[in-house]
Amino acid sequence: MRILAPFFVLACCSLGFSEHLEADQNILIPDHWAHMGRVRPTEEIELTFALRQQNLDRLEDLLLLVSDPSSPQYGKYLTLEEVTALVRPSQLTQKVVRQWLQSNGVSNCQTVLTQDFLQCSMTAQVAEAVLPGSEFHRYVSDDHSLVRSSSLYQVDGDVLQHIDFVGGVHRFPPKGQDLNEVLTKRRSEAKFHLGVTPAALRARYNLTATDVGSAQNNSQAVAQFLEQFYHPADLAEFMAMFGQGFQHRSDVDRVVGTQGGGKAGLEASLDIEYIMSTGANISTWVFSNAGRHESQEPFLQWLLLLSNMTDIPWVHTISYGDDEDSLSAAYMTRINVEFMKVGVRGISMLFASGDSGAGCKHLAKGGNCFRPSFPASSPYVTTVGGTSFKNPFKITYEVTDSISGGGFSNIFKMPDYQVGAVEAYLKAQSALPPKTYFNTSGRAYPDLAALSDNYWVVSDRIPIPWVSGTSASTPVVGGILALINDQRFRKGLPSLGFLNPRLYQLKGRGLFDVRPSAL
Ligand SMILES: *[C@@H]1O[C@H](CO)[C@@H](O)[C@H](O)[C@H]1NC(C)=O
Ligand SMILES: *[C@@H]1O[C@H](CO)[C@@H](O)[C@H](O)[C@H]1NC(C)=O
Ligand SMILES: *[C@@H]1O[C@H](CO)[C@@H](O)[C@H](O)[C@H]1NC(C)=O
Ligand SMILES: *[C@@H]1O[C@H](CO)[C@@H](O)[C@H](O)[C@H]1NC(C)=O
Ligand SMILES: *[C@@H]1O[C@H](CO)[C@@H](O)[C@H](O)[C@H]1NC(C)=O
Repeated sequence: MRILAPFFVLACCSLGFSEHLEADQNILIPDHWAHMGRVRPTEEIELTFALRQQNLDRLEDLLLLVSDPSSPQYGKYLTLEEVTALVRPSQLTQKVVRQWLQSNGVSNCQTVLTQDFLQCSMTAQVAEAVLPGSEFHRYVSDDHSLVRSSSLYQVDGDVLQHIDFVGGVHRFPPKGQDLNEVLTKRRSEAKFHLGVTPAALRARYNLTATDVGSAQNNSQAVAQFLEQFYHPADLAEFMAMFGQGFQHRSDVDRVVGTQGGGKAGLEASLDIEYIMSTGANISTWVFSNAGRHESQEPFLQWLLLLSNMTDIPWVHTISYGDDEDSLSAAYMTRINVEFMKVGVRGISMLFASGDSGAGCKHLAKGGNCFRPSFPASSPYVTTVGGTSFKNPFKITYEVTDSISGGGFSNIFKMPDYQVGAVEAYLKAQSALPPKTYFNTSGRAYPDLAALSDNYWVVSDRIPIPWVSGTSASTPVVGGILALINDQRFRKGLPSLGFLNPRLYQLKGRGLFDVRPSAL
């Protein structure tokens, strides 16, 4: 493949040469997926084409203006229609891409309201012709089956500048956090402790009985991508056990996507039970496993949904991430734009910072470095880390939870809103890891943290203690943001939207540094 590249440069655009869009995408098959062989040429595949958008500089400027309290445009959010008018691909781009697909016999395509994605179904044989170099195979893990290409794809030189990436070719869903593994480990460590319940959270974060939602239009959501389901009966039982002392709901208002049968997922149960405990009495949605075709990428499908719905909740919390170094820069850059499109609408996106600390990449001997995770490292989401009670028997102050993910992006440069905070932090530290381990020119995360240790969760009708991870702190923070939105709506103010510029301006007011547990 690489040998072709110089030829392409010489012959570009006249001889129909192809080139890679995502040459840096990791195509190793994750361990837990078993290879089942090449798919038949006649099998249907769905590919998602991310069309090149327009006015991205303007989008970024606008996002920062509407999110900055010191700007006269603060809170003047865009509708999805206005976002479309701004970013929609040029007529030329739409024409070139459609003609290219049609000339390959691909005609069954659907778009989204913002017109910047095309999702098309075609046979494997056609897909391999549209994307030279690709070869589609089936992989299975537990009872899930996926279709992915075992080799990198190229696209025609003429369409190269009109497409950001093609979805459904490479990326496997990241392995979910094995909460059960954590459970077993914790069980042997902690004998007795208080455990985190809605009452403990509401006490610690000073939420009184009147701190519940009451604004008509308020809403919050959690999203799941790893075949995880919540059970309405678990939520009801959880609220019956732990919902005393504050008005709350015990039902989800809307499920977007498909809820499977079978056992409830611990992760899904955790998310929904806790966002509805801090964001109490607020309408709650679940985005569940968007993308059910074997060749779709569920996370990408969820982003397509957000670009295809005019009315979506104000706060979204997501516990999902991948190593930055396993994803192509083209993919991450485009997904980052999708976050801007959401933020400029006044919607808050919260991502868990991950549960592997700074992460670790083993390079040559003596050359190890930390391993940032995406989307946690996107400058246009709010990333949530984890803490634990200093004294696990009491509602005391918090220290860092050792598992809490954090670090610096190697892809996204440090956004202006956090430069001061990060410089001050780095200067104040007496003992930092070797400088070669991390890249201080990148976006630093997390932005916020909350308790992430020893939660009680009801899953499959059983109350389970010791559930831990930043997937616990993220919905808790999401619910609190939704409560603040609620107060703002009641005063006729707009939602908080993309939080970070405002967050870092708070400095000492309302926010403080969490100390390491060892100090
Ligand atoms: C977007 O929504 C429209 C209208 O509901 C639908 O026809 C279309 O299939 C959706 N697009 C995708 C990619 O699902
Ligand atoms: C809760 O309120 C008390 C008393 O005003 C204060 O000391 C404490 O810091 C507050 N807790 C948090 C987490 O802000
Ligand atoms: C709960 O929310 C509803 C609106 O959804 C509101 O009418 C009711 O007053 C709220 N309850 C409390 C205690 O604020
Ligand atoms: C807000 O409430 C109005 C009236 O009930 C409804 O039409 C609208 O869709 C709501 N908006 C959101 C974002 O929920
Ligand atoms: C460090 O981060 C910057 C982005 O801020 C990036 O351009 C650069 O390539 C990164 N360096 C390494 C060694 O990854």
